[in-house]
Amino acid sequence: MNQKRDPVGVFDSGAGGISTLREMIRELPEERFIYFGDTANAPYGTKTTEEVIACVQGVVERLMKKNIKALVIACNTATGAAAATLRKELSIPVVGMEPALKPASQMRKNGSVLVLATPLTLQQEKFENLMRQYGQGAVKVPCPGLMELVEADDEAGARQYLRELFIRYPADRVDAVVLGCTHYVFLKEMIRELLPERIAITDGNTGTARQLRRVLAGAGLLNEEGPGTVELETSGGPGDIALMKRFLEKPES
Ligand code: DGL
Repeated sequence: MNQKRDPVGVFDSGAGGISTLREMIRELPEERFIYFGDTANAPYGTKTTEEVIACVQGVVERLMKKNIKALVIACNTATGAAAATLRKELSIPVVGMEPALKPASQMRKNGSVLVLATPLTLQQEKFENLMRQYGQGAVKVPCPGLMELVEADDEAGARQYLRELFIRYPADRVDAVVLGCTHYVFLKEMIRELLPERIAITDGNTGTARQLRRVLAGAGLLNEEGPGTVELETSGGPGDIALMKRFLEKPES
């Protein structure tokens, strides 16, 4: 049996992690990916840590039945809540993600760095540790309800939400914005339009894709032969699969 040809399992609470998947396909076009959107249990970001761990365990059980060789948590919220537990329980490599505060802190001048993420991500110990290292000038900006607008593909609603949000932070005092939730990456272009061009926008997707390459290479699990494939699954309905497909085909901004 050649484990290199086994798929990589990827999951999120919904379609947000498709933004991460796009980067991983670009970085590792020969890999087979199985993406699971846990839409029936979304959102994760307004749940408790224990509730998210329970949801994640259900997802991982399903993915493990597909003989995955590695797991990517394409969700900042689920990583903070469950990555440590999963790393203890699973015998395969687990790649997680965190808000891209480190690169944003390097772009900071005298202004602030706005970290947009779910309420749970910003409450977690993991994020506090990140803040201790790179949090100078960083402001936590919880965005409850924003992932729902992305899932509903409600552009007008998202624009209105973001307009109201940015009014609270005068742009001349902001140097960078961190998209600390994989769903928000689909709003990057909109955020670009709403903010002055000099404000940097960071997300963790490229870093996660590169980390997956490193981890697979380190474990001797890189699929060098292909063919690369993508399978989409959900705990929701056919409409959720259609949304994930649409997001997968969206050009990157
Ligand atoms: N996409 C998830 C993240 O990166 C969270 C969305 C949610 O379920 O609240 O944090």
